[in-house]
Amino acid sequence: MIDSLTGGHSLTKVLLTGGAGFIGSHTSLALLESGHQVVVMDDFSNGSAEALRRVAELTGLGPWRQDATDHWSASAPVGGSLTLIRGDVRSQQDLDRAFQDGNGGISAVLHFAGLKAVGESMAEPLRYWDVNVTGTVRLLEAMGRHGCQTLVFSSSATLYGTTDTVPIPETAPLQPINPYGYTKAAVERMLTDVASSAPGWRIALLRYFNPVGAHPSGRIGEDPSGRPNNLFPFLCQVAAGCRQQLEVFGGDWPTGDGTGVRDYLHVMDLAEGHGRALGLLQAEPPQLLTLNLGSGQGHSVLELLRTFETTNGLTLPYAVVERRPGDSAVSVADPSQAERRMGWRTRRSLADICRDGWAWQRANPQGYRSAGPQPAPELIGAQHGS
Ligand SMILES: NC(=O)c1ccc[n+]([C@@H]2O[C@H](COP(=O)([O-])OP(=O)(O)OC[C@H]3O[C@@H](n4cnc5c(N)ncnc54)[C@H](O)[C@@H]3O)[C@@H](O)[C@H]2O)c1
Repeated sequence: MIDSLTGGHSLTKVLLTGGAGFIGSHTSLALLESGHQVVVMDDFSNGSAEALRRVAELTGLGPWRQDATDHWSASAPVGGSLTLIRGDVRSQQDLDRAFQDGNGGISAVLHFAGLKAVGESMAEPLRYWDVNVTGTVRLLEAMGRHGCQTLVFSSSATLYGTTDTVPIPETAPLQPINPYGYTKAAVERMLTDVASSAPGWRIALLRYFNPVGAHPSGRIGEDPSGRPNNLFPFLCQVAAGCRQQLEVFGGDWPTGDGTGVRDYLHVMDLAEGHGRALGLLQAEPPQLLTLNLGSGQGHSVLELLRTFETTNGLTLPYAVVERRPGDSAVSVADPSQAERRMGWRTRRSLADICRDGWAWQRANPQGYRSAGPQPAPELIGAQHGS
């Protein structure tokens, strides 16, 4: 069977650290749909078991069982299984448990676990270095113990800093400007060293631009705790009436309408990009792959706002305020390498992003907390086919 997500490459059991978060939950779904077995390890500091219960439901897996306080699973009679383990990437013990609870045989890791708020990283740099960098050191040590040498890492366009280059190729200088960006740069450096330290490593550094939107079912999406740091979830919360108005940071940028221009990509396109990267790593000889994942299209804040309004039949209040320090006028990916190397490019439009993001927010105004308290373990999930 040719698999469109992986490009026809082999289907395997994979570990997703941080797989209960925004990008990890959508990627879990995409990987399950293409027939992979998925093991997630997450400490739930910014993720939710409910997200994965819904992933199991959306992919038609059997009942979602909780057999201990920190271990959930669902499987289908033929193929696919999803296991969720509570664990911290900084803990050797938790990592060993994740590799073993997957009943061994984990052939690749997708490493999403990490902290990602720029402002918070300036206030608490040590926490960012600890989780993002020490967490990755511990993960690599565990991969060594369990004989796994294939890794897909969630890197970020934040590495490029405030460059004026448009669009930005992977060869652009790395010049991060905040602790979050420094930790991503440090991990990329570390993974480059690891890749050249011994034969056999297959590593992809995926530099995401601005992942937004939600699965079209409206069942899973982004669930920021507290005040969202990014424009799109903030916009959705204004639309839901949870916030009074959208603050637009700067109306005097050297762009068409004076507001900042970014490269937004639908989270399902991003999820599918992970499947492609995994397939490529498994099919080709060991290598270190560095790819931008973006649409290659720039949209201004006002353009995004207008598209959201038109697509969803809404009018949203907004105010233009001062620029934020560290922002840049334009940040757009050159995604041509991702297309050339793995036949991937974004397929979904800005209108798709706005429609799907709003479907999620409208149905879940309080995120996964809208689902109410977690049911008792024996009541979790519904039996598929019963
Ligand atoms: N969302 C973006 O705009 C964006 C852009 C570029 C890169 N990234 C990177 O992609 C990755 C995933 O981002 P996301 O948007 O899904 O974020 P997220 O916060 O929704 O997901 C991260 C997950 O990691 C978990 N986690 C955090 N610390 C952990 C630890 N010590 N041990 C185990 N699990 C832990 C959280 O509970 C959460 O479920 C992050 O590494 C982030 O830096 C995100």
